[in-house]
Amino acid sequence: MKKIQVALDGPSGSGKSSLAKRLSRDLGLYYIDTGALYRAVGLYLKECGVTPEDVSAIEAALADCRVSFDFVDGAQRTMLDGRDVSGLIRTPEIAQWASKTSALPAVRALLLSVQRDFARENSVIMDGRDIGTTILPDAPLKIFLTASAEERARRRLKELLEAGQEIDFETVLREQKERDHRDETREISPLRRAEDAVLVDTTALDFEESYLALRRVIEERMEKL
Ligand code: DC
Repeated sequence: MKKIQVALDGPSGSGKSSLAKRLSRDLGLYYIDTGALYRAVGLYLKECGVTPEDVSAIEAALADCRVSFDFVDGAQRTMLDGRDVSGLIRTPEIAQWASKTSALPAVRALLLSVQRDFARENSVIMDGRDIGTTILPDAPLKIFLTASAEERARRRLKELLEAGQEIDFETVLREQKERDHRDETREISPLRRAEDAVLVDTTALDFEESYLALRRVIEERMEKL
């Protein structure tokens, strides 16, 4: 079978990761969660004791930052210097660190080849913000997944509560709006729909309906490869 790269971009809470996880399993692709890589860098910088605003300290600290990923039973494990940080990066605090520091060119440059190299050798569905525009501009299929801000915040709240975190809807919505704004307005690789991306809006779709919509788009593309 020919290799396929599916670039799946969209704002946080649009459902990218849960949909991509199931699609990857059912269609035999690797699922790469690139947000986890930015979160790992955020965790690293926090542990270094720098502030998210101190760009020169961040650039110096990045020289020793080693982010990688591998797969256990098909699920991505995200590593910092060989240490599995997949659980540690799933907090609102690290999401904020990732959002702030992912705007820096040095951070984006650090993570470029780890993403591209894997996608070159494997069939992937890669979720992020700039996969279709920057990381895999030649991907055979690009999808831009979105949903209203309120619906996305409701979904995120559910996930966080299920993970045992104490947080309310207003806080999730406010932090999400801050992150959306930063992701969309940063100078380098902002969140933007690639011109040739298929737009899928999941506001009025439940998980199963969203899954079927994406699966149809991907299978159609795979048949033409
Ligand atoms: O998808 P996520 O919430 O785990 O992403 C965390 C942050 O990382 C998000 O605020 C934006 C940033 N990010 C990015 O800039 N580029 C990507 N390809 C993926 C995530």
